[in-house]
Amino acid sequence: MKILGIETSCDETAVTILDASGDFAENFEYRVLGNALLSQAAQHAEYGGVFPNLAKREHQRNLVPLLAEALRQADALTLFHAPVDKTLLPDTKEILAREPELYIQLAEFFRHYEKPDIDCIAVTAGPGLEPALWVGINFAKALANAWHLPLVAVNHMEGHVIISALWDRNKNVAPATSYKLQAINFPMLSLLISGGHTELILSREWMHYELVGKTRDDAVGEAFDKVARLLKLPYPGGPEISRLAAEARKAGHGSAIKLPRPMLHDKNFDFSFAGLKTAVLREVDGEELTDEFKKEVAREFEHAVTEVLVDKTMRAVNTYQVRTLIVGGGVSANEYIRNEFSHKLRATNCKLFLSPPEHATDNAIMIALAGYFRALRKEFADPKELKANGNWLLTETSA
Ligand code: KG4
Ligand code: ZN
Repeated sequence: MKILGIETSCDETAVTILDASGDFAENFEYRVLGNALLSQAAQHAEYGGVFPNLAKREHQRNLVPLLAEALRQADALTLFHAPVDKTLLPDTKEILAREPELYIQLAEFFRHYEKPDIDCIAVTAGPGLEPALWVGINFAKALANAWHLPLVAVNHMEGHVIISALWDRNKNVAPATSYKLQAINFPMLSLLISGGHTELILSREWMHYELVGKTRDDAVGEAFDKVARLLKLPYPGGPEISRLAAEARKAGHGSAIKLPRPMLHDKNFDFSFAGLKTAVLREVDGEELTDEFKKEVAREFEHAVTEVLVDKTMRAVNTYQVRTLIVGGGVSANEYIRNEFSHKLRATNCKLFLSPPEHATDNAIMIALAGYFRALRKEFADPKELKANGNWLLTETSA
């Protein structure tokens, strides 16, 4: 099955074409035929975070060029010679009534290119920023209408879970374009850590999710980004903090800065990171932001976050007798967090799957993948009913 995946939930615009076959336990395999992604991080940097209306505008501008690029990579961009179907452009205009700029580009695209060899369209319907989600959804609806294809609404977090399960820590390098699904033992626990989420989710079988714990305030990625801002580091802050912390560890000397480990000893599996940010604010207040000082704060912050994440997750692993641990979402790109989890799980019978670092942050491969498994189960969306749901929980079955 060939799936077109579309992701616009936050500040990445991405389009992927995937060829997949098999099912979870039955020789699942996929190849990425085309993958085009544009990050808006640089544009959002001056706001110090993602600015929804800017994201919406950028998604509108980027989707058609990215679609063309993904199709070109897949060798599926074919010039159209017959006249365009008369009803197509008015229909498209109606579907994209709120995205006029996108309509102009897509109408131009339809005038030039044929329907590609694709079986299904998968689009992120939530969670995320609703104005941003809507652009992708309406784009997907316009394509599904024009090409007479079924539509699948994908939960973005399911995408993070599934793509992480495709990576085997015993292999050092992932093949660039072709992957097999690893054998997964259940129960499986997913720690999802990103700019908008911090959740522990238990699965007793594929595509079933129970919430075990979550953040009560800021998400981990959000805390990284906010602390980076306090240290006057550019957005997104995660990679910057991680780089400085690594330098501090390499330099080796001790630190006078001591940050709290929020909720470390609480019996539940919830997290809280807002207090940690406030503690950093107190440390930074009145201090000169020298490179040395920034490195020390970065290291202590990274250690505090990691200790809480690892400790609580390991407790959940023991409580639920977890046999597979997945760590996914943008923050799972963090080297230190990856290493600590690898170290902790080495001598256990729980297998660790870390998201491939190059696909830890948002992308459309993960959306096409989750879409594939939903399409296999014929869980298609009605284009008339499909809406963006900014708070769509993985534990709810539909958007
Ligand atoms: O999954 P993602 O791309 O978007 C959301 O769905 O939120 O995650 C983005 C988040 C940002 O907060 C970014 O600072 C963080 O992931 N991040 C990192 C690292 N790389 C990205 N945080 C810590 N260390 C990293 N290396
Ligand atoms: Zn994400």
